[in-house]
Parts: sequence; C-alpha cells; structure tokens
Amino acid sequence: MKRHIIIAASGALLLLTGLSAGAADTAKGKALVGERCTGCHDDRIYTRPNRIVHSLRDLHGRVKFCDSAANAGFSDGDIDDVVSFLNHTYYKFPDAQ
Ligand code: HEC
Repeated sequence: MKRHIIIAASGALLLLTGLSAGAADTAKGKALVGERCTGCHDDRIYTRPNRIVHSLRDLHGRVKFCDSAANAGFSDGDIDDVVSFLNHTYYKFPDAQ
C-alpha cells in the first residue's frame, strides 16, 4: 500500500519535471539510463564530490561520450531525454544554456 503511494508520487514528480523540461521526456530518460547506463557505474557517480560535469553543456557532452562507450545507440532525442533526467534528478543546472 505504502509502496503504491510512493510510486504514484514519484510518477507525478517525474511528470512535472518532464513538463518543466519542455520537449524532453524525463521519464523516458530515466528508463534509458536504467536499461543502458548501469554497466560501468551506478547513479552515485552523478553526485560524487569530484564530479567532472559542471554545466549543462558538459553533461550533454558526457552523455554523448558515454552513449558511445556503452554502445547504447541513443538517438539525439534519447540523449536529450537522458540529459533532462540526469539534470533534473542530480545536477540541477539552470535550464537555459
Ligand atoms: C563503458 C563504461 C561506461 C558506460 C557503459 C557508461 N559510462 Fe558514464 N562514465 C564512465 C566512466 C569511466 C566515467 C568517469 C570518467 C572520469 O572520471 O573521467 C563516467 C562518467 C559519467 C558521467 C559524469 C559523472 C560526473 O563526474 O559528473 C555521466 C553523466 C555519465 N557517465 C553518464 C552515462 C550515461 C548516461 C551512460 C549510458 C549511456 C553511461 N554513463 C554509461 C563509463 C561508462
């Protein structure tokens, strides 16, 4: 019962963050990361103290780089969705570049 409420609440939150990100689909980005991006590191890398990503531009570049490293074959739209998810969940850079 409690678990259902938490899942529903996080779903609503994802929807909201997705909407505020414009066209990018944050929920899809989360699914893509879960499917393709956990082979070498888990999500702790996004909040590590010495992280290497310091701007939205860095994040975009890094996701593209790791897409190749992972052989994930993301489309440009997929990359935007993943960037949106990672930014809204972990990095929280302002949306405007
Ligand atoms: C082949 C192994 C590998 C896979 C698979 C991989 N990564 Fe990475 N990723 C790395 C390594 C290694 C680093 C750390 C690089 C460094 O410290 O210089 C990293 C770092 C990152 C960072 C930066 C973390 C920081 O310090 O802020 C992001 C963002 C990231 N990966 C996203 C992704 C995404 C999205 C995917 C799925 C497409 C993915 N990674 C899949 C190897 C991988």
